[in-house]
Amino acid sequence: MSKAQWFTRARFGLFIHWGLYTLPGRGEWIFARSDWQPGEYEKLMEKFNPSGFDPYEWARLAKAAGMKYVVFTTKHHDGFCMYDSCCTEYKVTNTAYGKDVLAMLLEAFRAEGLRVGLYHSLPDWTHPGYADEESPEYIRHQRLHTPTAEEHRAFCDYLYNQVECLMTRYGKIDLLFFDYTSRTKKGMDYFDRKRILEMVYRHQPDILVNDRLTYEKEIDLDFDYYTPEVAVMNQPLEVKGKPVAWESCATINGFWGHVNNAGKCRELISLTGGLAGCVSVDGNLLLNVAPDAEGRFSPEATARLTELARWFESNGESITGCGKAAYPPPFGSCYTAADNILYCHLFFPPIGDMILPQLKGKVESISLLRTGETVEIVPLWGYELLKEDDLRIRVPLDAVAGDVLRIVLK
Ligand code: GLC
Repeated sequence: MSKAQWFTRARFGLFIHWGLYTLPGRGEWIFARSDWQPGEYEKLMEKFNPSGFDPYEWARLAKAAGMKYVVFTTKHHDGFCMYDSCCTEYKVTNTAYGKDVLAMLLEAFRAEGLRVGLYHSLPDWTHPGYADEESPEYIRHQRLHTPTAEEHRAFCDYLYNQVECLMTRYGKIDLLFFDYTSRTKKGMDYFDRKRILEMVYRHQPDILVNDRLTYEKEIDLDFDYYTPEVAVMNQPLEVKGKPVAWESCATINGFWGHVNNAGKCRELISLTGGLAGCVSVDGNLLLNVAPDAEGRFSPEATARLTELARWFESNGESITGCGKAAYPPPFGSCYTAADNILYCHLFFPPIGDMILPQLKGKVESISLLRTGETVEIVPLWGYELLKEDDLRIRVPLDAVAGDVLRIVLK
C-alpha cells in the first residue's frame, strides 16, 4: 500500500493561515507591503491574545464539512512561529496569549480523527541569510542585499533546525507543506533540500512532503504530492510522465490571511463544484479559511462551512475515496467515480433531459443522491442528433445546482 493512499482517498482538507499578520487584518503579506517602523510589527506580539480560539470548534466544522485533514501555517514568510520553536524567541509562546497554539490545534484535530499537516515557509524575512525579490526590502525599497556565504549557510541551518523541531516535538505529522521557492531561484538548490528531506523522513517515515522545495518539476527528486494553486486542473497531473498525487489549494473568500471586512464567501456551488472538479481528475482540494485576531472563523465562513456540511451529508460518497471516471461527462457537469458507480455533479439544474455519452446499455440504475429519487431513462428521440451509444435521462425538476446523480453501472 502506498503511503499516499489515505491522502488520495481523503480528497478534501482545511488550510488555515493564522499568524501575527492576522492582527492588522490586511493579509499575510502585510509586513512586506506596508512601511513599518523598526520593531513595530513585532510589537503585535503584545496584542496577540485570541480569547475566542477553540480548535475543537474548527475541527468539528472541518470534519462535518467532509474534510479529512488540516494544514496549518506554523510559520509564514514573516518568520513568526505559531509554535514553541526551539530556534527563536519570535514565537507564539512569547505573545500575550503565551500558549502553543500548534500543540492545541494538533490535539483537537487528532481527537476529531483528522490527519494533520504543517505549512512551513521556506522564505524567512527575518533572516539576513535569505534574500529574494519578493522580500520586504525589495517590495518596499527595491533594494536587495546579497547574503554572504556564511549568512546563507546559517539560514539553511536555521530552516533545518526549525523543521527538525516540528518533526520531533509534535508527535506524528502526516503532511509537510513547504512554501515556496521563488522563480528567481530557478535552477538553484537554495534550501539544501536533500539534507532537509533526509532529516524529515528519518523522523517521520510516513510523512507526505509537497513539491515546493524547488521551482522545477523535472529534477532528480520525487515529491510525495504536488500543489498547484487556486485552480482546478483539466486533467490528472503527471510528473516525469507518471501520474502523481496532487492537491489544489484555494480560498473560501479570496484571501489566505485574515482581511478585515472581507465579507462574502464564494458561493456554495463554487466550493462543491471545485471540490468535485479536483476529484474528477484525481486530485484533492485544500480549502483555506482564515481565523481572525480573536481566533474565530468569520460568521460568513462558518455559515458556508455549515452549508458544506449539509451538502456533504447527502453527497459525501461522491467525494471520499473517489477519482476520475472512465467516461466523458454530459454538458454542465463533471464525473467522479468509485468502483462501478459514476457520480454526475450538476453545476446547474439542466434545462431538460441530459445526454450521457457512451452509457447506452451500461447502466443498472440512476438516482438523485440527495433524495434517492429514481432518475428515468427515456427513449432516444432523434432530432437532437443522438449518438448510437448515448443515453438520455430525465432529471427530476426539483434538482438543484450541486446535486449529484448516482449512476450504477452494470
Ligand atoms: C500564495 C500566497 C501565500 C500563501 C500561499 C498558499 O503563494 O502568496 O501567502 O501562503 O499562496 O499556497
